[in-house]
Amino acid sequence: MSRFTRKVVIVTGAAGGIGTAIAQRFASEGATVVVSDVNIDAAQNVVEAIRKENGNAVAIAANIADGNECRALVENVFSQMKRIDVLVNNAGINRRGDLLALSEDDWHSSFAVNIDSMFHLCRAVLPIMIEAGGGAIVNTASQWGLYPAPGHIAYNVTKAAVASFTQNLARDYAPHKIRVNAVCPGEIHTPMLEAGVLRSGRTIADLDRLVPFGRIGKPEEVAALVAFLASDEAAFMCGSLVEITGAQAVA
Ligand code: NAI
Repeated sequence: MSRFTRKVVIVTGAAGGIGTAIAQRFASEGATVVVSDVNIDAAQNVVEAIRKENGNAVAIAANIADGNECRALVENVFSQMKRIDVLVNNAGINRRGDLLALSEDDWHSSFAVNIDSMFHLCRAVLPIMIEAGGGAIVNTASQWGLYPAPGHIAYNVTKAAVASFTQNLARDYAPHKIRVNAVCPGEIHTPMLEAGVLRSGRTIADLDRLVPFGRIGKPEEVAALVAFLASDEAAFMCGSLVEITGAQAVA
């Protein structure tokens, strides 16, 4: 398949977990992928892996918690590539704690990374997409943004904001043929999930048993959904929040 030949795709948080799988998926379908992350060494490794598979990718460092770095990322990509077809707002952090346990820093950094970054990146990218006559934005929300799991108030509130942000942006920019959708994953096997499992004293096998499908999800499975939502095959999908959970309900 080459649904993204000649397309330029930015993926944030692409140096690890789901973001790496998304970058690899777009590259395997012909896109030029901007592998962006705060961890530039790891991003460079992802680019090398993509090039070994004959894909096109560049690594660009950006700490998306900083609005200036968000704007600089988009300006840098547009000045080099002259187009931006797809923006995947994937990077996110999961700070554990209920309201009394959570630090004020964790509350603010959760907002900065998980939702304020989307404000800055989308404001930078929308004029480019409007001028081009269309584009696609895929945001990573979470199942927990729709049905909060206990003890993760900052994460859940910011992911609920991502869901609402997605619907608002979709309604405002659909007339410009810019499709904005979000994925809402359940438990997906990534470094973020492993860190959470370690903290809780459980194992991956414990999590597998909680999913009616019999196992937690794989990053590649989320990547396939993101690529579909960004592709012309999803031409009438706009403002959708798509759950990908193996039928798991939040306990
Ligand atoms: P991860 O922690 O494994 O990878 C996240 C990547 O984002 C890392 O490469 C990290 O360096 C980068 N990143 C973090 N802060 C950044 C910043 N300020 N600027 C730029 N890059 C930054 O996470 P994972 O699991 O791959 O998650 C990806 C997205 O999927 C996140 O938005 C997460 O909330 C969401 N998600 C993950 C689920 C899971 O079970 N793993 C479930 C539901 C949603």
